Amino acid sequence: MKIKACLFDLDGVVVDTARYHYMAWKKIASDLSFDFSEHDNERLKGISRMESLDILLEIGKIKVDLHTKEELAATKNSLYISYIQKMTPDEILPGVIRFLDELHNGGILVALGSASKNAMSILDKINIAQKFDAVIDGNKVSKAKPNPEVFLKGAAELGIEPNDCLVFEDAQAGIDAARNGGMHIIGIGQPENLKNADFVIPGFETMRLDQLISWYS
Ligand code: BG6
Ligand code: MG
Repeated sequence: MKIKACLFDLDGVVVDTARYHYMAWKKIASDLSFDFSEHDNERLKGISRMESLDILLEIGKIKVDLHTKEELAATKNSLYISYIQKMTPDEILPGVIRFLDELHNGGILVALGSASKNAMSILDKINIAQKFDAVIDGNKVSKAKPNPEVFLKGAAELGIEPNDCLVFEDAQAGIDAARNGGMHIIGIGQPENLKNADFVIPGFETMRLDQLISWYS
């Protein structure tokens, strides 16, 4: 098989924190007196906090100064942190641990590639940090997805060429980042929201190493 390493996005792939990001942004929108739908939220998946805020304000047709933007981003993050505070390993998405163990036993390296600055704290809460050979989060990159920096840094830390890496992503920005980095990509979610992935799967429950081997040999 040409895959030597798998890189996982965090929010919406390993754990269902995508809904907590959505809840926090929806509250910010509601405080600013506009509605923010789940459809709109697809545009925010995978991208940085400040870029998400720019899109949210564009949807609400609201213009604010930089100071207010920083306050709104801080309020969103406080809300988000309050939601993730009580997370436990039960919130790891179905099949993830088994699949990570299967990769490990199959000699495939595993890294996390997340835009989130809260990634380490989530990994600690769900007690999964030790499953990753490398962790690249929003504190280690300066260019947000769809720039491939987060995945290229992950591949470099693992010592694997990008073309031998497979990325699992639930966001279009992340799929574009992996594509821009010259990696293979499996989308997690609905095919209509995820263009340009090699394959799209609903989650890891039925994902097996054998399947990867047959897809990528
Ligand atoms: C990504 C999420 O993983 O991290 C985005 O998909 C989020 O929704 C981004 O905006 C940044 O997260 P944080 O925790 O640094 O605000
Ligand atoms: Mg994600």
